Amino acid sequence: MDEELEVIIDESAIGQKVQEMADRISQDYAGRDLLMVCILKGAAFFTADLARRITVPAEIEFVSTSSYRDGTAPGALTQGKDIVRDIQGRDVLLVDGIVDSGRTLATLVERYVKRGPASLRTAVLLDKPLRRTAPVRIDYRGFTVPDRFVVGYGMDKAQKYRNLPYIAAVVP
Ligand code: IMP
Ligand code: MG
Repeated sequence: MDEELEVIIDESAIGQKVQEMADRISQDYAGRDLLMVCILKGAAFFTADLARRITVPAEIEFVSTSSYRDGTAPGALTQGKDIVRDIQGRDVLLVDGIVDSGRTLATLVERYVKRGPASLRTAVLLDKPLRRTAPVRIDYRGFTVPDRFVVGYGMDKAQKYRNLPYIAAVVP
């Protein structure tokens, strides 16, 4: 590894937080069936851990979209694969790893609201509120992080570091 990383959230802190979020979600959706929509690739690890700790029945779908081409510079929002499942009348939970400008999540919320879900909420592990340009409601928030580029636990820099079990900031 040629870059210096500074651990900002360790593995046990992530585990604790994910459990807390899952407990709240399980309470809020008691007696209902969840449809979790994982925003690839960043939310893959978070979704997998969250889903295993949620105690209500949950289906999982994947949507792929990206606002970064390479590295850390935001590019145009590119649209990948969408979910095929009909979400009309469903309780949908959009899951992302990190919200920065908010464009990705806001775009997906706008798209899915039009399909008539019974409810649509968002769960985000990391919130980086300082660069928000597209306001978006976060219903379940893990950690608020400073305006630094972070990697690990699904988050990447040019596709690297997703497999780190902790979250680290890249030291500039
Ligand atoms: P937004 O559309 O600007 O909110 O950015 C959301 C997406 O950008 C996330 O799903 C991540 O894929 C990526 N992203 C934003 N900030 C970071 C970061 O600090 N590290 C890694 N990826 C990031
Ligand atoms: Mg990325």
